[in-house]
Amino acid sequence: MQPDAPPLPKRRARRHTRMSPTCERPARGTRRPGVPAPSPNRKVSAMSRAVPQTRAFEPPSPQGDRLLAYCRPGFEGECAQELTALDAAAGGGGFARAARGSGFVEFVRAGAGGAIDGRRLVFARQLLHVLGHASALPVHDRLSVLLPLVEADPRRWCDAWVEAPDSDPGRALAPLCRGLNAALIAALKPRKLIDRASPWRLHVCLTATDAAFVAVADVRSSTPWPGGIPRLKFPRSAPSRSTLKLEEALLVLLDEGERERWLKPGMRAVDLGASPGGWTWQLVARSLHVTAVDNGPMDAALLASGLVDHLRADGFRYRPPKPVDWLVCDMVEQPRRVAELMAQWLAQGWCRHAIFNLKLPMKKRYDEVELCLGLLRATLSDAGRRLDLRARQLYHDREEITVFARVA
Ligand SMILES: C[S@@+](CC[C@H](N)C(=O)[O-])C[C@H]1O[C@@H](n2cnc3c(N)ncnc32)[C@H](O)[C@@H]1O
Repeated sequence: MQPDAPPLPKRRARRHTRMSPTCERPARGTRRPGVPAPSPNRKVSAMSRAVPQTRAFEPPSPQGDRLLAYCRPGFEGECAQELTALDAAAGGGGFARAARGSGFVEFVRAGAGGAIDGRRLVFARQLLHVLGHASALPVHDRLSVLLPLVEADPRRWCDAWVEAPDSDPGRALAPLCRGLNAALIAALKPRKLIDRASPWRLHVCLTATDAAFVAVADVRSSTPWPGGIPRLKFPRSAPSRSTLKLEEALLVLLDEGERERWLKPGMRAVDLGASPGGWTWQLVARSLHVTAVDNGPMDAALLASGLVDHLRADGFRYRPPKPVDWLVCDMVEQPRRVAELMAQWLAQGWCRHAIFNLKLPMKKRYDEVELCLGLLRATLSDAGRRLDLRARQLYHDREEITVFARVA
């Protein structure tokens, strides 16, 4: 397990010798030939709010570690619940600070809790360690406040990202983030604070034109996309935007080696609730044979690929004639029913890997996720099988989460 606040290098002069594979920005995963690189897909406007010219920053609390988690706006409560529960399980007694719709949660750890591994979090897209918070930044020279905060830390940085939460106000800060990012890198280089071999990435999270967190991520255990969001381009021939959910799931929930080993041409998959075929499209693009189960119609071009069998059947009753490599499921159903069905497929050995959505009810969404994941673990444990379970609320998910499960 990664240490929560890893030991710092003793002297700045000490250089890291290992090049981190995820340090170069941004690692977007393997794209198929012919698919152009994604471009930023949002239009943003600059904010021009007048701010006071006073300076203030809070250094890191001596009592404990402060964490910053990015999440989907509207899910700050679930993200806070999850951090609190994981911290408590690790022996800590911290508390969360969150504002609904902000797209981030600040978590203040207290006492000597063990590590929280950001990769285990369902509702956080990125988990950072806070070095300090600056408010009342001078709008014409924000770096005059931010740089001392950075320089107070003995580390060098493989990169520095200035980002903003995924909220309406955060999106409006995007042009400012870009400008400040260039200025920050330009200021770090002559100070010799950039070292491409360092495992530490510097994050400045602007929460307003005059307020920011300064934070750090370990590139070995954090997500390699600014804001924790992989920017994917919609493939023109895919029949639905849902296709991006499965593409993101494969990118976020599996690593490169797993994608290569577990998704091979000629493998067989079942897609429950497949119409019109966005998820099937992703599997066919990787040359898998797909049984698409849905009473709704499937995209004609997909059917013409020769790799798809369309069955008009109930996804809850369908059983594969022989075990398949993959089960994917995007049926709009009660999450518990879907979790039970997935658990049955995995426990019976009808599939080796599964990716599915759990559509969340409006209330008690965190509790429902816990219940469904617990149900999967219990069923597999009763069947004497070890389960590899990974879940995340993806950028392309709305009121839902996406789960990867594999019998290990
Ligand atoms: C969100 S859509 C799936 C979109 C699809 N994943 C895509 O990428 O194009 C949900 C689908 O689930 C199907 N569905 C719902 N209940 C089902 C069931 N019991 N059996 C089979 N399909 C079902 C619906 O017909 C609908 O087409």
